[in-house]
Amino acid sequence: MEVEYLGHIIGHQGVKVDPQKTKAIQEWKQPKPVDSTNGFYRPLDPAKRPDISEAVKASLQPVFDTAEGNLISLATGIALEYGAEAPEELLVKQISDEEADLDARIGSLQGLARQNIDALDPHWDSLLSSEQAAFRAAVVDQLSSANQERAVSEAIKMAESGDLKTRQQGYRLLSKMESPKATEVFRNRLADWKKEKPGALLDLLEGAEAKKADESIAKLLADYQSSLDASDPVAPFRAALKGGDVKSGKEIFLTHAAGQCAKCHKINGDGGVAGPELTGIGSRVDHEHLLAALVDPSGFVVPGYGMTMVTLKNGESIGGALLEETGEKVVLKIPDPDDSSQQVEKTIAMSEIETRQPPVSAMPPMGYILTKTEIRDVVAFLASLKEKKGKKGH
Ligand code: HEC
Repeated sequence: MEVEYLGHIIGHQGVKVDPQKTKAIQEWKQPKPVDSTNGFYRPLDPAKRPDISEAVKASLQPVFDTAEGNLISLATGIALEYGAEAPEELLVKQISDEEADLDARIGSLQGLARQNIDALDPHWDSLLSSEQAAFRAAVVDQLSSANQERAVSEAIKMAESGDLKTRQQGYRLLSKMESPKATEVFRNRLADWKKEKPGALLDLLEGAEAKKADESIAKLLADYQSSLDASDPVAPFRAALKGGDVKSGKEIFLTHAAGQCAKCHKINGDGGVAGPELTGIGSRVDHEHLLAALVDPSGFVVPGYGMTMVTLKNGESIGGALLEETGEKVVLKIPDPDDSSQQVEKTIAMSEIETRQPPVSAMPPMGYILTKTEIRDVVAFLASLKEKKGKKGH
């Protein structure tokens, strides 16, 4: 348990500085124009704010003496902002701790690199051997300003890794590097894209996209495009089938401003009802189905959720949601003629039908709303939603 007291947090590990207060100090020079209490727009003029540099410098030491985790990297950010020094041994300790929180580690790494990149010299070898792909990538990022050539060869090593996340990060790093060796990696791998691990194909393609000023890469990309089945609307997205990140997919599902998944779908009891519930969907369908559901919703429409219109031989038209269709009949869910707030099922024999439209999904095609990387993450998240065994009938 933790208690807030006079800007400090008192918990079982002793007294710590409240991170909210730390943030306020960090933003002092460039205040956010939004009131953090009520969320109203309230811009503050930085020029009218007193200079607190001296006070901040004087009070940072006790912060570093007690700080841990994210607070060390926050305090380092403040120290750099106000021209004070962060203790290097403390940062090195945090950066070298494989168990430390990832964001805190990366924050401290970036802080130390800004303050004195030479302090990292004795540590590059051990940092580059980190098992955490995202951290290792952050190390290579910093290394590029100290030793560009070594950074390129480390990124190439990552792009050769059998570990998917490491390989993906390797391609991402190489795509940003101005080096003939980086371009060569994309040229060689793209020529042989069928051999790429399916989970890193998207990273290879997008990295190559960033290098298409190179004529041979532009040509290879065009070859790849024309190898896709033009009649298959899912084909341009199939590189996003595997290799996504479950955690970021969940984040997108819950918070993406334009995707709005949770507005229409329930998972474990939370969410909207315009679309089918997705609890446990990863146990019912495969990656291919999930990808197609996202980018080509009308390709397969979940029964009960596709709107259709049927015109009968007697001239009558009936609109409703398609529940079922067989060789002999079509079953629609239509508004109850006696009480339009209710719905009823209507079965229509095929022999009565003159024409009918294919069912249309109410789900927006996500290829226009999310990036391919985001789609890949959402597919990974949905595939991770497994049916819980033995939960029914207690
Ligand atoms: C405006 C409402 C709406 C939004 C927003 C929406 N969906 Fe849907 N979704 C539907 C409807 C309706 C269906 C059923 C029709 C169909 O199969 O296309 C559906 C179907 C699906 C299916 C297929 C389910 C199955 O059992 O085959 C998946 C998966 C899915 N949505 C995921 C998502 C994700 C992920 C997002 C956000 C990126 C999202 N949806 C956003 C309405 C929506």
